[in-house]
Amino acid sequence: MHEIELSGCPLQPGTPLKVSTKAWGNWGIEWQNDTEFQELVNKSEEAYDQEWTSTSGKGLRDIARAAEMAGLGDANKRLNDAVGTEVGKIGLNAKENLCVVDLGAGSGDTTMAVLRSAPQLKENGRFCLVDPAKSSLQEARSRLAKSGLIGEKNLEVISGKDLDALQSLPAGSVDLVVANAALHHHAFLNPVFQGIARILRPGGWLVIGDWHCTMWLKPIGVLKLLDGVEWPGKAKQLAALRDRFRTSDSGILSSSPELAIADQQIGKFWLSYAQVKDPSNPPFLMLEGHRPAGEYVSELAECGIRVRRGPIRLLPGSELLSVLVAQKE
Ligand SMILES: C[S@@+](CC[C@H](N)C(=O)[O-])C[C@H]1O[C@@H](n2cnc3c(N)ncnc32)[C@H](O)[C@@H]1O
Repeated sequence: MHEIELSGCPLQPGTPLKVSTKAWGNWGIEWQNDTEFQELVNKSEEAYDQEWTSTSGKGLRDIARAAEMAGLGDANKRLNDAVGTEVGKIGLNAKENLCVVDLGAGSGDTTMAVLRSAPQLKENGRFCLVDPAKSSLQEARSRLAKSGLIGEKNLEVISGKDLDALQSLPAGSVDLVVANAALHHHAFLNPVFQGIARILRPGGWLVIGDWHCTMWLKPIGVLKLLDGVEWPGKAKQLAALRDRFRTSDSGILSSSPELAIADQQIGKFWLSYAQVKDPSNPPFLMLEGHRPAGEYVSELAECGIRVRRGPIRLLPGSELLSVLVAQKE
C-alpha cells in the first residue's frame, strides 16, 4: 500500500516505510496507536530484510561505479578507515577479554579497520560480528583469518539481525560497539540504541560511521531527483506522485549547509546510478533511513549514550559521510 513503483524507471523509490519514522508524516504514513505504529515498524523491518536477501554482487558493482562517478570514491572505505581511526584514538586498554561487537559487519572491513588502528586488540580482544547475510560473514571469517589481524579463537559470528543479537548478548558485557553503514537500515532507531545501551558496560564506547542526508525525509526532494531521469511514461507517473504527495511536505526537518550539500551529493549518486545501472540487475531502492546525524545524537542521548566526538565529517562541507564517537554513561 505504501510502495512506490515506477514502471520502466531505472530509479525505484521502494517504500517510504524505510525512511526515518520521524518523517513518516511527510510521506502520508499514519497510525492511530502504539500497536499500529509497531505493525508499521515491523513492515519496515521486513522491507529491509527483503532488500538484504536479494542483494547481488553484480548489483553492488553498479553502486560502486555510481559512487565513483558522483565523486564519492570508495565511500565505504572512507567510513571504515575513519571508524578505525576513531577507535584507535579512544585508546582502549588491552585488558583480557575486551569485547567488541561489529553490527552489520558485512565481509569484515569494519573489524579489519578497527584491528589495524587498535592492534592491542589482536591478542586480548574478542570480536563478535553480526550480520543477517551468511555469505558475507563467511567471507569475513576467512578474510580475517588470512589477514593475521586476529586469531580464530577470538572471533565469533552471529548470523542474524542486530536487533536479535542485541537481545541475546549479556547485559553490560561489551566494551566497544562499532557499526559502519549499517544503522540507517532502520526506520525506528530507539530499539537498536536501547539494545546497544543494554549490552555496553558503563563507560563502554560506540563508534558509528554512516550516511546522513535529508533527501529521503521529504517527497519533494525525491520528486525533484526523479525529474532529472528520463524513462517512458515519466510525465504521467510523476504527475500521479505529485498528486499523491502534494500536501505532505509540511513540517520538513530543518536543514543546514552541510546537509544541503549532502543532499546534492546523494542526488548526484542516484543520477549516476541511473546512467550506469545494468538493466539486467534488480534495482537498488532509494528510500532509506539516512537522516541528519543530529537525530542519532538525540536518540542516543535518550538511551543514556552521550556523543563525545562528532559528527566528524569526512567530505569537506558535507554531512553525507560522518562518524560519531559516543560513550555509555
Ligand atoms: C553497507 S554494508 C556495510 C558492511 C560493513 N560494516 C562495512 O562497512 O564494510 C551494510 C551491512 O549491514 C547489514 N545489515 C542490514 N540490515 C541489518 C540488520 N538489521 N542487522 C545487522 N546487519 C544488517 C547488511 O547485510 C550489510 O552487510
